[in-house]
Amino acid sequence: MKKLKLAGSCCVLSLAMAGAPATAETAPKDLVDGLNGIFGQHAGKRASHAKGICAAGEFKPAGEAARLSRAPHFAGDPVPVTIRFSMGGGNPAIPDKTNVTRGMAIRFTLPDESVADLVTISAPVFFARTPEEALQFLLVRKADPATGKPDAAKVAEFSKAHPETTLQGAWLKAHPVPNSYLTTPFYAVNAFKFTNDGGQSVFGRWYIEPAGGVVGLTEEEAESVSDDFLTEDLEKRLAAGAADFQVHVQIAGEGDPITDPTVEWPATRERVHVGTISVSKVTGQDCDGIMFNPLALPTGIEPSEDPILAIRPAVYAESLLRRQQK
Ligand code: HEM
Repeated sequence: MKKLKLAGSCCVLSLAMAGAPATAETAPKDLVDGLNGIFGQHAGKRASHAKGICAAGEFKPAGEAARLSRAPHFAGDPVPVTIRFSMGGGNPAIPDKTNVTRGMAIRFTLPDESVADLVTISAPVFFARTPEEALQFLLVRKADPATGKPDAAKVAEFSKAHPETTLQGAWLKAHPVPNSYLTTPFYAVNAFKFTNDGGQSVFGRWYIEPAGGVVGLTEEEAESVSDDFLTEDLEKRLAAGAADFQVHVQIAGEGDPITDPTVEWPATRERVHVGTISVSKVTGQDCDGIMFNPLALPTGIEPSEDPILAIRPAVYAESLLRRQQK
């Protein structure tokens, strides 16, 4: 067994703030209003990642997992997973070739029937450092009623004052649009604290790697694919057999920011392979009613003090409430 590197004293934080419902400045409701202000409110749909498709499979832990965390699914038999693949943003009719982040939300059913969620996107960075910055990012993109479009000058001014909010867009631009949900890499972006049976803790970030490799759409394919090609592709590929993702945790090094999801950690950081997700079948819209909760965590995995992570459950609950009401 490899020796586990311990988080430096720089990175071990009090968890008192984790899970706080909101910062003093930003209410979860304001963030949902911000999303609805851009995309509209669509009956029964999520305020973000409105378009999606559900799938089922299993997670099998790797031998290395238990040295990282005592989470119940990091040892023993495989556990079932419910997955929702999605397109970023609140437009339920967004064409699948649009260059936005994709989502992969995973619910693990643990041996005692409790659940743990992992909610990831297809870029290694988020577009805001704090809930307040996320809100300003959304507000500045709301269409001007006079033109029906966001004010480009205001967006440019905001980007100049907040350069970290441009990094996700730049990353997406620099990478091809994926040709399948099953060839897309997914990242949890926020850091979590992993603690093993010996009480050793490290901060890490989940990285989910498609076993068949990362493959983008060619320009020619992009011209001919249907608006719903990602769902059609998923059905076709899984009809031919299960597809795997390798699940890793990237370990924070000295000086890596634990609470800032706009900063990518160096690719040279150790990655621990913690298991394999096998996606076996499409289950239509059967997970639509679920609220995947980034802070539904098992023993052995705790949140970092990232304020974006802390506000997410309350934002998602507000979105759930609205989609249940309409
Ligand atoms: C302040 C920051 C954020 C806001 C305002 C926000 C907002 C939302 C909302 C309103 C939903 C719909 C929830 C529901 O109705 O169940 C959602 C879903 C989602 N978010 Fe976020 N989010 C934020 C941060 C993040 C981050 C950092 C990630 C990166 C992993 C992320 C990934 C996702 C994914 C993948 C879904 C779809 C989950 C599903 O399929 O149910 N979000 N987000």
